[in-house]
Amino acid sequence: MSGRSLQGPQSLQGPRALARLTALSSVLALAAFLAGCAPQEAQPVFHAERNPATLAEWRLLQIRAGVLGPTDGVIPYELNTPLFSDYAHKLRTVWLPAGTRAGYGADGALQLPVGSILSKTFYYPRRDAGNAAGASQGALRATAEAIGVLAGGRLVLDQVQLIETRLLVQRAQGWQAVSYVWDDSQRTARLQRVGEIIPLELAGIGKFDYVVPDINQCAACHATDVKRATLAPIGLNFRHLDREHDYGGEVGQKNQLAHLEQLGLLDVAARAESASSGGSRAALWGDESASLEARARAYLDINCGHCHNRQGPADTSGLALDAAETAPIALGVCKSPVAAGRGTGNKKFDLVPGRPDESIMVYRLAAHDPGEMMPELGRSLVHREGLELIRRWIAEWPGAPGCAQEASNSARQSASSARLSRSQG
Ligand code: HEC
Ligand code: HEC
Repeated sequence: MSGRSLQGPQSLQGPRALARLTALSSVLALAAFLAGCAPQEAQPVFHAERNPATLAEWRLLQIRAGVLGPTDGVIPYELNTPLFSDYAHKLRTVWLPAGTRAGYGADGALQLPVGSILSKTFYYPRRDAGNAAGASQGALRATAEAIGVLAGGRLVLDQVQLIETRLLVQRAQGWQAVSYVWDDSQRTARLQRVGEIIPLELAGIGKFDYVVPDINQCAACHATDVKRATLAPIGLNFRHLDREHDYGGEVGQKNQLAHLEQLGLLDVAARAESASSGGSRAALWGDESASLEARARAYLDINCGHCHNRQGPADTSGLALDAAETAPIALGVCKSPVAAGRGTGNKKFDLVPGRPDESIMVYRLAAHDPGEMMPELGRSLVHREGLELIRRWIAEWPGAPGCAQEASNSARQSASSARLSRSQG
């Protein structure tokens, strides 16, 4: 165990602690009463052992006057470039227990104390959003536009369709995954363990099966280090978080890291250090003002890098697509796939400079078949715009197109090493 010495709620045990807690809560209640605010103001509850049957019991999100939003002290955040999940939009929040603070790990990942809770709510804008018709079950929209979202991570419920809310909870034994699926009334999200298929329809795309992962599948992506096999957050990293967010109210538009620092939730001193070691801010994949290279790498980093890194679940493929990778061969340039046949589309290399149609990477991004598609989990649809970005990146690769040189080099190399071993043997 990591030997954290934080005062998580689970350390408040025994009669003395209980008395302290009771005394403290009556002082708080009195203070709240004197300050004139409602004492029943929702506050998150850290469930140290069991997962409650409904999302509401965590008190991370609340519905008021038709608007779903974070409760007191729960901070919404966005990523520079997010994971593609069948065009779903996501409301992400972070909560740290009172009096605690996050630091940075060596790779720029935020290190959160026991008791922290991360949430991600998947939803789609409704096709009829804005019309009085309201809660019809018609087609949803596949658009990047922020529809039905108010400042401060609040969602107008008659403009969006809520699908599921996933949690990562930092317990004494490490990060644990929990998942809740919203009912049609959009009032209640219930605990689910075995996964679920939700038939949806997106305007302009058609009908598809949205797959809520089985709770065991969370690890396929979140156990980013196969040897340790423990779950970890993926997006909570300096390079993904370093951007502006509209918090609304008095705070307004502000840099997310600066906001967390100002709230005392993030170690200020560690930021500069992390910025120098953990690499720079990730580009926004759709930002035409950023370089094609930066956009493509940010896209591959968040969509593929959690499996395709040198410690990750796809390490045996030899393909590493995380932001830190620099070796062309590891990025797939003129690299032969580990397994021939299915999943290669009869192409020879993962990435052929200047030739997207000859690149296995493009083939697998465009694939639908569960045995061929990449990522291998987490989508039913092809991300047309993401595919287009990677195609362009490969098409506009600097230098001479093709892999002929490398291919004959490696053929010569293996021929000469075969000769070498024969002459030695
Ligand atoms: C296909 C891979 C994949 C699967 C499967 C997956 N996740 Fe994630 N998850 C990601 C990625 C990548 C991010 C960060 C990018 C983003 O949020 O868009 C993320 C983000 C999250 C976050 C926000 C905090 C963070 O890690 O950045 C939560 C909470 C979360 N996932 C929970 C779950 C749970 C619970 C499950 C299983 C029910 C699950 N995830 C399954 C890839 C996956
Ligand atoms: C959930 C984990 C996971 C994610 C996410 C993932 N992959 Fe993979 N990938 C694998 C595994 C495991 C293999 C090896 C088995 C195989 O080829 O199917 C692999 C193999 C590959 C290969 C063949 C590599 C070789 O040289 O053998 C390519 C190309 C590829 N992935 C591309 C991608 C791209 C592009 C993304 C992101 C858009 C991605 N993958 C996301 C798990 C993943």
